[in-house]
Amino acid sequence: MIIIGFESSCDETGVALVCTERGLLAHSLHSQIAMHQQYGGVVPELASRDHIRRVLPLTREVLGSAGMTLDQIDAVAYTAGPGLAGALLVGASFAQSFAWARSLPAIPIHHLEGHLLSPLLAAPRLDFPFVALLVSGGHTQIMRVDGVGRYELLGETLDDAAGEAFDKTAKLMGLGYPGGPALSNLAQQGDARAHDFPRPMIHSSNLDFSFSGLKTAVMTRVRALEKADGPLSAQQLADLAASTESAIVDVLGAKSIKAMKQTGLKRLVVAGGVGANRHLRTRLLQDMLKLGGQVFFPPLDLCTDNGAMIAFAAAMRVNAGLVDLSDTSHAFTVRP
Ligand code: KG4
Ligand code: ZN
Repeated sequence: MIIIGFESSCDETGVALVCTERGLLAHSLHSQIAMHQQYGGVVPELASRDHIRRVLPLTREVLGSAGMTLDQIDAVAYTAGPGLAGALLVGASFAQSFAWARSLPAIPIHHLEGHLLSPLLAAPRLDFPFVALLVSGGHTQIMRVDGVGRYELLGETLDDAAGEAFDKTAKLMGLGYPGGPALSNLAQQGDARAHDFPRPMIHSSNLDFSFSGLKTAVMTRVRALEKADGPLSAQQLADLAASTESAIVDVLGAKSIKAMKQTGLKRLVVAGGVGANRHLRTRLLQDMLKLGGQVFFPPLDLCTDNGAMIAFAAAMRVNAGLVDLSDTSHAFTVRP
């Protein structure tokens, strides 16, 4: 069965074709980063308008690269939420209209389930159960995953998400948007021991996170340095970036290992945009090796938002018997 999937929850328009037996066939992506950069963050109205412009050309592109026609599609999947309301509406209404016009079932997918299952795109033999560290711009959660649709929340952030901590501290340092990759690149030239930033809740007995205190600590340090020395030098910025990254990665690493010990599971899956962070990847690989376990990441290009993870999550739901394919009522589902 061939499923076409649409992602439009934030600033990426993604379209993909997934076969329930053979996996990912093709995916196309348009990132709006260049458009939002001048505003220092995502402008929701501009995001929605750009999704409208991109979704049809990307659909044609993905069909072309898979060498397929519309007749070969058996179901349509789309991100139903969470995300920006207007942006979600573009993908959902396009997908529902597509499905309605061709009398196909439409499958609403939770954006985080898309991220959560995306490491299986590259490791189809990864078995359940596993622990998932979900680290995106809007969410930071640790879940126990016993199967498709069987998720238990073990811990989550009480304030900012990990990606948000990267983005906001990067903004304080004048690094622009999106902050995560920019801060991470700069951190490579810096000394992570230069600033002893707090690792909030690292020793708490639960699996929850908090990043707002770290953001305040970085802000206070940046202001103090600017007051003392004037505009920050490249090395000062790199040291700040490396120290901030190290604090975030330390907390994510420690909580992931705590979750492995607490559940007794040996497989860790990392998903969401922050999963692209090199330092986090290396750290978790080393820690899981010591623990005699394994860690799985999505391919780098599928860490951040994309259509492949949405079509793939729909395929996994179909394979698990969780989708009523006879339902072609096209009731509209969007949950911002
Ligand atoms: O999953 P995602 O694409 O969108 C959401 O669902 O939020 O995640 C985007 C987040 C942003 O906060 C971005 O700064 C962060 O992922 N990110 C990174 C890296 N690449 C993306 N954070 C740290 N290091 C990276 N290399
Ligand atoms: Zn996402």
